[in-house]
Amino acid sequence: MTKNREPWWKKSVIYQIYPRSFQDSNGDGIGDIRGIINRLDYLEDLGIDAVWLSPVYRSPQDDNGYDISDYRDIDPMFGTLGDMEELIEKAKQRGIRIIMDLVLNHTSDEHPWFQEAKKGRDNPFHDYYVWRDGVEGELPNDMRACFGGSAWQWVPETGRYYFHQFSVKQPDLNWENPKVRREIYDMILWWMDKGVGGFRLDVIDQIAKEPDRKITSNGPRLHEFIQELSRETFQKGDLITVGETWGASPQIARKYSNPDGSEFSMVFQFEHMELDQQAGGQKWDLEQLSFRRLKEVLNKWQTELYGCGWNSLFWDNHDLPRIVSRWGNDGRYRAESAKMLAILLHGMQGTPYIYQGEELGMTNIRYEIGEYRDIETLHMYQERLEKGYPPEEIMKSIYAKSRDNARTPMQWSREAQAGFTKGIPWMKVNPNYREIYAEDQINDPDSIYSCYKYLVNLRKEYSVFADGRFFMLAEDSEQIFAYVREDEKHRLLVVCNFFEEQADCGLQAEWEGMELVISNYKDAGGEMLRPYEARMYLARK
Ligand code: NOJ
Repeated sequence: MTKNREPWWKKSVIYQIYPRSFQDSNGDGIGDIRGIINRLDYLEDLGIDAVWLSPVYRSPQDDNGYDISDYRDIDPMFGTLGDMEELIEKAKQRGIRIIMDLVLNHTSDEHPWFQEAKKGRDNPFHDYYVWRDGVEGELPNDMRACFGGSAWQWVPETGRYYFHQFSVKQPDLNWENPKVRREIYDMILWWMDKGVGGFRLDVIDQIAKEPDRKITSNGPRLHEFIQELSRETFQKGDLITVGETWGASPQIARKYSNPDGSEFSMVFQFEHMELDQQAGGQKWDLEQLSFRRLKEVLNKWQTELYGCGWNSLFWDNHDLPRIVSRWGNDGRYRAESAKMLAILLHGMQGTPYIYQGEELGMTNIRYEIGEYRDIETLHMYQERLEKGYPPEEIMKSIYAKSRDNARTPMQWSREAQAGFTKGIPWMKVNPNYREIYAEDQINDPDSIYSCYKYLVNLRKEYSVFADGRFFMLAEDSEQIFAYVREDEKHRLLVVCNFFEEQADCGLQAEWEGMELVISNYKDAGGEMLRPYEARMYLARK
């Protein structure tokens, strides 16, 4: 199981594509696989090693593809299986691997397995899903689904309820059933045969649910299931695997990303992403961001996985608001703060992920409710209206947290619809596309894009990015985030001012004799850090 050489993904940077918003090639207003193929030059120029594609499988699109009705086919809206094979091949020619999104906790209710399962208790597929009888004509229990409403749905033909942690159209698979697990492994092996470079595993910590005990994440059999999954599939190839695990602690993440390769390469943990949420509340219940907590959390993950696990590094994805609108400043200091956040994250240990548009400093949106598309946002709006929340308050949460903030079309150019489509986009383009767009940034050495590109290349050049030990500096500072990375060959220093006010960082002695490798200001040097100033220094030993 243990491989002698260091895995390739420890020095890699991954780019996440949300296909429906990346590039439309046929004018139907929805991004597609051909659109991605047409943008391979862009991805190659940025220097990334792999692309993680959010789901493109056949799907009724109730949750934008996270509801799969056929794992072995591509949804016609995105193209064909032939297009997918072409993408894998053409990306490979440029040294880019394709990472597929695996949704294994649930399928669509339109998946043939579920269509059979709901026919009756005796159907051979019935036990592929999680069913319970009602209790005295009532729901089996009061568990709630993530997108609102009960987690139980009645099916008259079976006289039972099925369990769904997400929408009613996303019934949960029954991992206790060995036949389900075998079907899944065969499907994964089929994709591995097609040459994919890895997998991202959607809400994988929720597969071992035990609804009778109200357990959703981290169920007792979770690691047993994952180890079997890994043994039967991933370990037969040279893949990157990343689990989505909202409920991970560093201790649990050490299991998931055990260097012996028995589970995954790494996981996405979200502790640093939940700092603007009230304790015990939902993500919509906003809390003032705490810089102190951010420092503590990132420090903890950097130190506690060192040598015994592996971090993924990310600020953005298709479920999260845009980082520059969250921790940065999307007005006057948009460029400075976007670069600062990039420099801070890309100096750390782990595998960095860049979410489409993050490298341009794309921002959150403020639309009318009718212009939002996300099932989670729309359900929550309705639910809170019914509970009597004032609409302005609900909209405030939506502006801050809606997943649609990240899902607006990619801003390629100043042309109509930001060059995303020649038709009418499935979701309104962010009106700031005439100021923020890729064409403007690609050849500008001072752009946010160029900053990301430079950081991606630095990671390939110096081993300290992958290997160096992490030490926090200025731990008590309320304004400065500074740290050192160190291996036998190099010392790397990152110093960032997280705020608009200038800051006297008092770290001059630390960078004496070091070379400044990147900064978001010209003529960086003094003790004083300007608004959102970031610097990265390097010294050879
Ligand atoms: C996590 C995915 O990232 C999200 O977009 C999706 O809605 C849920 N899992 C359900 O699959």
